[in-house]
Amino acid sequence: MPVIRNKNIEVLFSASTIARRNLELAKDIAERDYKDLLVISVLKGSFIFAADLIRAMHDAGISPEVEFIMISSYGAGKTSGEIKVLRDIDSDVRGRDILLIDDILESGKTLKFARDLMLERGARDVSIAVLLDKRMRRKSDIEPDFTGFDCPDVFVVGYGMDAGYAFRELPFVGVVRDEE
Ligand code: IMP
Ligand code: MG
Repeated sequence: MPVIRNKNIEVLFSASTIARRNLELAKDIAERDYKDLLVISVLKGSFIFAADLIRAMHDAGISPEVEFIMISSYGAGKTSGEIKVLRDIDSDVRGRDILLIDDILESGKTLKFARDLMLERGARDVSIAVLLDKRMRRKSDIEPDFTGFDCPDVFVVGYGMDAGYAFRELPFVGVVRDEE
């Protein structure tokens, strides 16, 4: 088991497993008949997944525009139920096909908020790609169009996802197994 910052990290999804899955996802995305696609990476947790997925999409023949949105955090979303945009996209989404990329779909509040926001702004179609789906935690009426992996009900880190800003650099997705 890798030891990072003096903690044992159990690998759930290895770097090579994720890389293979990204190629499959990109092919699935390429089969959709997107027009004038705008990809929106939902920061911060999705930054590595989005970086890899858009390059896999390039290999699959897709040439999207890419934007970023930052939506209030996990903690804030959970405790207050209030979600807000901390950093918005610059683009006009009217009439456009949007692909939201996020790290994890859990309660679904974050992505439902983002999807509804884009639809309110006049997007033609909003689809969702997530690396991980914790479906047992769902509280909103939302399903991903593209899912990397079903995720067990544990707090995961790595591949962009953090615990207190740490572990984002790990090339795999893992679980912190101890505090020593
Ligand atoms: P939702 O609004 O409950 O679907 O929240 C999903 C967001 O919470 C994800 O985009 C992540 O940023 C964060 N999140 C949920 N589970 C985890 C986890 O296990 N590790 C790190 N971040 C998580
Ligand atoms: Mg997130």
